[in-house]
Amino acid sequence: MEIYASISDLKDEEIYRDPTNNLKSVFQQLDYLIALDVCDKRAEEVLSNSGLNSAFDTITRFRSLYTAKLEIEQAKAIIVSRNPWETLNNFAYFSNYLQLARTEYQGSWLKPGDSVLFLGSGPLPMSLIVLCHQYGLRGIGIEQEPERAELSRKVLAKLGLSDRIKIIDGNHLTLPLKEKIELVMVAAQAEPKREIFNHLAKVLPAETKVSYRIYEKGLRRLLDTFSRYELPAQFEEYLRIRPKPPANNTVVFLTTNNVEHNTTTGDRLSDGWKIYKTEELLEVPSLERC
Ligand SMILES: C[S@@+](CC[C@H](N)C(=O)[O-])C[C@H]1O[C@@H](n2cnc3c(N)ncnc32)[C@H](O)[C@@H]1O
Repeated sequence: MEIYASISDLKDEEIYRDPTNNLKSVFQQLDYLIALDVCDKRAEEVLSNSGLNSAFDTITRFRSLYTAKLEIEQAKAIIVSRNPWETLNNFAYFSNYLQLARTEYQGSWLKPGDSVLFLGSGPLPMSLIVLCHQYGLRGIGIEQEPERAELSRKVLAKLGLSDRIKIIDGNHLTLPLKEKIELVMVAAQAEPKREIFNHLAKVLPAETKVSYRIYEKGLRRLLDTFSRYELPAQFEEYLRIRPKPPANNTVVFLTTNNVEHNTTTGDRLSDGWKIYKTEELLEVPSLERC
């Protein structure tokens, strides 16, 4: 409630500018709090307390805005850096992105040359940068704020990745694209979730894979807006990769069984793919969602 009280009146612009330089410590306190070892039952009691809903919404919004602020600062640092890759590597969450990318690459059975689309790619499209650089993929980012999209194009140019990753101004309604996409990734901060998934369910060709990152443990669930909605029936979850403690985020993989677009779905699924149940989890290293 103290965290809520300290941010509840702030406008977006004040969070980005942080004139009193106070918000960094609020952000860190929040990180500390959600990482506390609280059992799931107790966390459920706290999170299901409807009296706290508006406080939770404010906190989730704050974290999302402050994360974007950090990404904007890092993007600007990369653009003016003499050694942009080193500056990128110094980003606090870089190692988390490496692990996540590995999980997403393995979990969606991608191969070099495949295309991955990231909805909500932001000012610093870390997930695309790491996936495309490490695994030889091609990337498309969609970003709804034109200034952020432009900043990210400059970052990609500086890193020498402009021919491999393209950024489109737009949102989920920009889909479908003409290009063939093997994996669609939905950013943790992409909103509104219900509208996004309903739209993806309508427009994605059958057998397109979709992935997203969630928190399932303790108070971190506070930050997860995916689990508040039920997915449309066109989506089938084929894999869920959970992190090992002490890290906390899970990657969820879906596939579309959208018969309106492709009637061969059933054959292909029973023929070539293994659909993993959620209990049949791969062993992966610790992950952190960003
Ligand atoms: C801060 S970035 C996150 C980038 C991410 N950390 C990564 O892995 O590369 C999230 C971005 O999603 C954008 N966004 C949110 N909802 C969106 C939507 N429906 N369509 C396109 N962009 C969206 C926001 O403007 C924000 O810049």
